[in-house]
Amino acid sequence: MARIYNFSAGPSTLPLPVLEQVQEQMVDYQGAGLSLIEASHRGPHYSEVHEAAGQAMRKLLGLPENYHVLWLQGGATLQFAMIPMNLLHGGQKADYTNTGSWAKKAIADAKKFGDVYVTYDGSEENFTTLPMAADVKAREDAVYLHLTSNETIGGVQWQEWPDVSAPIVCDMSSDFLSRRLPLEKFGLIYAGAQKNLGPAGMAVVIIRLDLLPRCPDDLPAYLGYKTHAPKDSLYNTPPVFPIWVSRLVLDYLNDNGGLPWVEQRAEERSGLLYGMMEKHAGFYRCPVAPHCRSKMNVVWRLPSEDLEKQFIAEAKAQGMDGLKGHRSVGGCRASIYNAMPVEGAKALADFMDRFAQQHG
Ligand SMILES: Cc1ncc(COP(=O)(O)O)c(C=O)c1O
Repeated sequence: MARIYNFSAGPSTLPLPVLEQVQEQMVDYQGAGLSLIEASHRGPHYSEVHEAAGQAMRKLLGLPENYHVLWLQGGATLQFAMIPMNLLHGGQKADYTNTGSWAKKAIADAKKFGDVYVTYDGSEENFTTLPMAADVKAREDAVYLHLTSNETIGGVQWQEWPDVSAPIVCDMSSDFLSRRLPLEKFGLIYAGAQKNLGPAGMAVVIIRLDLLPRCPDDLPAYLGYKTHAPKDSLYNTPPVFPIWVSRLVLDYLNDNGGLPWVEQRAEERSGLLYGMMEKHAGFYRCPVAPHCRSKMNVVWRLPSEDLEKQFIAEAKAQGMDGLKGHRSVGGCRASIYNAMPVEGAKALADFMDRFAQQHG
C-alpha cells in the first residue's frame, strides 16, 4: 500500500496504526458480531469506549479533577457561539485577541452576545505576528480572555501564555495535544477533532468545573454546557465514530511517550522546514515573525506564484500533497500535525532543498 505524505490542514493525516485498528475492527467489533458504529451508544461496547476515551484524554493532558471533558457535535465553529452563550451574558465583558482568520470568526460570534473588547489586533501586520504574552492585558472585569493558540491559516502560534486574572478560553483546534500546557491558566479549551485527534464531526471542550454554574439555565438544551457535563456527553447520541477513533489516537499517544514525545517531534518536523527556509533565505520567505512561528502549520512563499504552483505540483507528483496555502492568503503551507512522521517533514525539506537549487 502506498500512502502519501498528507500535509493537508484538516481533515488531516492520522496515525497509521490507528487506521489499521479501525479497519480491522470495523465490521466485527471485538467479536461482538456488529460494528461499533452500529451499536447502541448506551450498550456495553460503546460505553467502554466512551469511558476509556475520557480517561485517555485525562491521562495524556494530566487533567486535574476539576475539569470536565465534553465531546460535542458542531465542530469548533459551534463553540464560537456556545462559549459566549454560556459564559458571556447579562451585560458581561470578555476580551479577545484578534490574531487571524479563526480569531476573527470567534470575535464576530461573541459580539452577538456581549461586550467584547479586542485587546490585541494583528490586522495591521496582516496577522504575521503575535504580541509577547507578557504584554497581553485583559480588562479587570472581563469574564474571560479568548485566544486562538494556533492560527491554522496564518501560521502564527502562541509560545507563551498571558498572565491575566481572567480565565483563558482557548481555541486549540490546530495544536491541541501537541504540547504540554499550564492547565491552571485555562478555564476552557476547545478544539475541532479533525487535526490532531480524529475524524471530523466533533469538538472537544475541556471546561473548568467552577465555570459551569455561570452558564444560564434557559439555553436550548444542546447549546448549554450544563446539559452535557452532568450527562457525561451522553445527553443525546454522541458522535460515536469520532470518539472511538479519538480513543485509539489517545491510546497511541499515551503508549508512545505522551506529550513530551509529541512536543519533541513537533520541534523536529518544524525545525527541518524552517531550517530549509533559512538555508535558502533568498528563495523561500516565511512571512511569520520568528518568535511565533507555528510548529503545526508552516507557511512560506516562493519568489513568484508560478514557482509556487510548480513547487506544489512537483511535490504532489513525488507523494507530498496538501501543500497549497489557504485560498485567502496563497503561498505554501505544510500542516505537520502529530501523526506526520518526521520522515515526512524530512522528505519535504529535501524536496525544498532540491527545488531551490534548481530554480534559485
Ligand atoms: C483554529 C481553528 N479554529 C476553528 C476551526 C473551525 O473548526 P470546525 O471546522 O471544526 O468548525 C478551525 C478549522 O480548521 C481552525 O483551524
